[in-house]
Amino acid sequence: MTRPDPRSGAAAGAALGVAGLAAVAVHDLVQKKHAVLRNYPVLGHARFLLEDIRPELQQYFIERNWDGRPYDRDVRSIIYERAKGIHGEQAFGTERDVNEMGYEYLVHSVAPVPELKEPPRVRIGGPDCTQPYDMSLLNVSAMSFGALSANAIRALNKGAALGGFAHDTGEGGLSPYHEENGGDLIWELGTGYFGARTKDGDFDPDEFADKAGKEQVKCVSLKLSQGAKPGVGGVLPGAKVTKEIAKIRDVPRGEKCVSPSAHRVFSTPTELIEFVARMRDLSGGKPAGFKLCVGSRVEVLAICKAILEVGTAPDFIIVDGSEGGTGAAPLEFEDHVGMPLTQGLMLVHNALVGTGLRDRIRIGASGKVAASNDIVKRLIQGADYTNAARAMMMAVGCIQAQMCNR
Ligand SMILES: Cc1cc2nc3c(=O)[nH]c(=O)nc-3n(C[C@H](O)[C@H](O)[C@H](O)COP(=O)(O)O)c2cc1C
Repeated sequence: MTRPDPRSGAAAGAALGVAGLAAVAVHDLVQKKHAVLRNYPVLGHARFLLEDIRPELQQYFIERNWDGRPYDRDVRSIIYERAKGIHGEQAFGTERDVNEMGYEYLVHSVAPVPELKEPPRVRIGGPDCTQPYDMSLLNVSAMSFGALSANAIRALNKGAALGGFAHDTGEGGLSPYHEENGGDLIWELGTGYFGARTKDGDFDPDEFADKAGKEQVKCVSLKLSQGAKPGVGGVLPGAKVTKEIAKIRDVPRGEKCVSPSAHRVFSTPTELIEFVARMRDLSGGKPAGFKLCVGSRVEVLAICKAILEVGTAPDFIIVDGSEGGTGAAPLEFEDHVGMPLTQGLMLVHNALVGTGLRDRIRIGASGKVAASNDIVKRLIQGADYTNAARAMMMAVGCIQAQMCNR
């Protein structure tokens, strides 16, 4: 009688193991419930294993900022709970050490008002606007198609439609993915005028009017700067300028696509205000405004002076804090240039109050807004509404896999 070769038994076991793993991998790749498993077939199961045995370990995956630095503890746990549909009914209590330096708190009243039946909204649209828009207090901040994948854009817009809030396109143009699910849109134009651009990189008023006139577009916004890279434009390498992106942005396919650091259609505060008014006219009277990260205080005051001189005002100004996120930026700019949201927001609010313009202009605020206490804090500091970018990416799930463009 011949004895079985132990090596062939081991080989059969190994083959079975490989087949099992392959089956799990195929299952992970075709299922549509968990983004983590689709991005990390087989390996992704470690996340759920850790979730079962030690919630804190599992949280490592969601506790990192976009760039790998830790997110504030309260923010990340709230985003995590909301993204999983948990609404704070779990008994546990305050998790922060209230004696911590810089601990922030809101003061409540002994006579709380009844809960509102509908979430509050704020009306955007000054005297020159003929199609005002009622903005939610929390909206999806500007992130372009290209920085985010088609599916991420679809998901954010569907969320906006379901939740009754607005979705900012970012400067990368108005893509078909923004329009698929019918959520309200804020169309942003940056220094590249993508999507409303002539062949030589100028602003194309006819194309702008066509797209801004769409029913789904509720406001038009001009980006002057953003907190993570104030004073810096952006570059999309030629290899990433696909046929589709080229079409949406009105740029040549396969060629380096540059957002210049400054606008070319205006260069003074007066011309800026006139251009925003022109955007409003071309859109058919929809609210028009601009977004900036505050740098020089003098420039903010010069813009206020220009508004008074020109006699028309932007309908909104979005203040982005230097703590904001981005697709790509030089580290020095991310960490050391621009005013943080608290200082920038209070400066813009005070400048508008001081110049008598505050009643005509709404202020949006963005920079690490994720939970309701963040919204309230910014309202207290002068904002009328807020926008969030990275919290939305976390809720969609793409940031955990660091593959938001895919
Ligand atoms: C991936 C990504 C892409 C972005 N693209 C744009 C953009 O196209 N236009 C813009 O004004 N801001 C852009 N931002 C900035 C955000 O709109 C927002 O102002 C900033 O990240 C602060 O919000 P957060 O702290 O909630 O992320 C981008 C941010 C991220 C993370």
